[in-house]
Amino acid sequence: MIINGINYRTVWMQDASVYMINQLLLPFKFEIYQSKNYIDTANAIKTMIVRGAPAIGATGAFGLAQAALQYEGEDFNDFRKYIDKSFNLLNSARPTANDLSYALNFVKSKMFVAGSITSSKMRSFELARGYADSSVEMCRAIGEHGNKLIKNNQNILTHCNAGALACVDFGTALSPIRIAHYSKKNIFVYVDETRPRNQGASLTAWELAQEKIAHAIIADNAAGFYMSKGKIDMVIVGADRIAMNGDVANKIGTYEKAVLAKENNIPFYAAAPISTFDVNCRTGNDIPIEERNEDEITHIHGIDENKNIKKIRIAPHESPAKNPAFDVTPARYITGIITKKGVIKPNKEEIAEFVSRR
Ligand code: MRU
Repeated sequence: MIINGINYRTVWMQDASVYMINQLLLPFKFEIYQSKNYIDTANAIKTMIVRGAPAIGATGAFGLAQAALQYEGEDFNDFRKYIDKSFNLLNSARPTANDLSYALNFVKSKMFVAGSITSSKMRSFELARGYADSSVEMCRAIGEHGNKLIKNNQNILTHCNAGALACVDFGTALSPIRIAHYSKKNIFVYVDETRPRNQGASLTAWELAQEKIAHAIIADNAAGFYMSKGKIDMVIVGADRIAMNGDVANKIGTYEKAVLAKENNIPFYAAAPISTFDVNCRTGNDIPIEERNEDEITHIHGIDENKNIKKIRIAPHESPAKNPAFDVTPARYITGIITKKGVIKPNKEEIAEFVSRR
């Protein structure tokens, strides 16, 4: 993605450091965060310096390569045990997005070169770099296929951030929107603010503004109003984990948008790379849903008149809060899943065929 005239990826690795755009500071400050070891990289995923399913997948892959490169012993069995330990730490950073464990397994399952720690280290880095490159390519292909669904003069609703920042580049849901814009279609994007962490207002809106794509941020509870007034032609969201029957876990609030879209006869698409499909989840009931801290509900972040980023309380001190970070949209509300191979139906047959071709 182009930021201030420079082409960036969300995450990359150089000299055993993992670099990432610090998403805790956007849209107020653009800064690159340098993680110097895999423990710090796991922490960056946990604290949401980097966020979004494909982005945390690539970060995990780099984190495992970083762990390997920083290993100082000489015993191959000990090296394997150390990699298992690093894998577990990175894998436990966040539970819902399938991409994290998919990427970690991709690197771990291929990195060991019998008896050679040096070769295994080098291979882990090549695998992680290759993983990130192929993730970019998949997102670009999702954009090409999704663009075919978008007509000139259409209004599109999106929820949360499924843009380049949530991936390595391009995005999932924002990739078709980006490519429609590059192909000179006149489009308008309604951006759900996405409480509690406001990924829509702070990240999606920022990405669209960078690209000069026409958009407006709306309160999460305004989507039904605009749908009922005929202002929204289609909905495109990302996904954090897709079950084999087509149920889709995505940011909290996605489910209600899908129900509203069906009520108003508006097509509802999820866009996702292969890493988001979980062959071990039969239905959405098998998807683990992350519960996050109460203070994400009771407090809000913003910038004051002196340009300091501040966290302020908006709820009574006595009130507890509940904070599920994701929900599951049943397949029956989903018109199609936009993949690198084209749009597939959210059903067992088409998903089984898609994942078997990988
Ligand atoms: O909690 P986050 O910010 O990591 O959640 C991000 C989302 O839910 C995105 O919608 C998702 O990862 C879609 S795929 C780019």
